[in-house]
Amino acid sequence: MQAALYRAYGTAVESLRVEDVDTPEPGPGEVRVRMQLSGVNPTDWKSRSGATPRPIDAFQVPHHDGSGVIDAVGAGVSAGRVGQRVWTWLAAAGNRWGTAAQWSVLPARQAVPLPGGASAELGASLGVPALTAHRALFADGPVDGKSVLVAGGAGAVGHYAIELAKFFGARVAATVSGPAKAELARKAGADLVVNYRDAAAAGELREFAPQMDRIVELALGANLDLDLAVSGPRTHIVDYAAEVADPVLPVRRCMSANVTVRFILLYGIPAEAADAAVADVSRALAAGALTELPVTRFPLERVAAAHDAVEAGAVGKVLVEIP
Ligand SMILES: NC(=O)c1ccc[n+]([C@@H]2O[C@H](COP(=O)([O-])OP(=O)(O)OC[C@H]3O[C@@H](n4cnc5c(N)ncnc54)[C@H](OP(=O)(O)O)[C@@H]3O)[C@@H](O)[C@H]2O)c1
Repeated sequence: MQAALYRAYGTAVESLRVEDVDTPEPGPGEVRVRMQLSGVNPTDWKSRSGATPRPIDAFQVPHHDGSGVIDAVGAGVSAGRVGQRVWTWLAAAGNRWGTAAQWSVLPARQAVPLPGGASAELGASLGVPALTAHRALFADGPVDGKSVLVAGGAGAVGHYAIELAKFFGARVAATVSGPAKAELARKAGADLVVNYRDAAAAGELREFAPQMDRIVELALGANLDLDLAVSGPRTHIVDYAAEVADPVLPVRRCMSANVTVRFILLYGIPAEAADAAVADVSRALAAGALTELPVTRFPLERVAAAHDAVEAGAVGKVLVEIP
């Protein structure tokens, strides 16, 4: 089969190759998926470059997310799953066979049925962003009737945080950096969208909710002033991204707010939390509550350009077309 792969960390152009390799067979508890689209996330270029290195087992086919059709199952998996359209999550975690290839092999629970009404593009966009958004929202309990602030509401995680929070009954405010991203956050369903660079942002957010219940955060240092302006004893700030430099916490102000700060990394969340996230994302998907961001597509042979586009901060999702 044709597969994108790397054998050592490096720049995208240096390290990524498209090669013919043996098609993998599913082992016990696994399924094999004939991939249609492979979704690229920031973690994929960070793993490949060695910025956040993950072990390489001779070679690594990158990418966790994707959509395709199950064409073989291993021992212990129902044969009825053959022919099922699926979306994948964390396919390349501790597994050589990521989704940037004609076939991926992965544990059966990480290939989730994709409802008929959901496009292959949407399916390939969900894994890392939607599951991270779910964990950020729900690690500290339900959000029904709660006020949620989503930082970076036009980002991939931010987009699904808005859509999942709305679907599960929250009021949602989002921050963005400009009008085009404001439009994306509004389309996702945010009740209020503010520009985090605008001096009026804190006042507008306080008017919406003097105390947020959740703040889904990706730039803790840059946004802490804004976050603390709408924080109190009920507030959980949940940070899912590292900035270039670690922030210095203003401890007394955090104490005075009685705020809770939580950090999450999808790779290490408890298995039951991942299963609950998959179930809730599937519910929202079946109800038509999850949508695609704008998509930029690259053919498999241009996988290096796809990685560079994500590293450069492409707006929306970058997807690789599998031949
Ligand atoms: N912990 C985890 O498990 C986990 C999971 C998924 C992703 N991540 C990390 O989360 C980050 C985002 O991932 P993604 O896929 O959502 O990326 P993305 O689609 O590129 O979105 C990032 C968004 O953040 C916005 N942003 C940047 N600085 C901001 C700030 N100070 N305040 C508010 N918004 C800001 C960007 O827009 P502007 O620059 O225009 O504001 C952009 O819309 C990456 O670093 C990724 O590695 C971590």
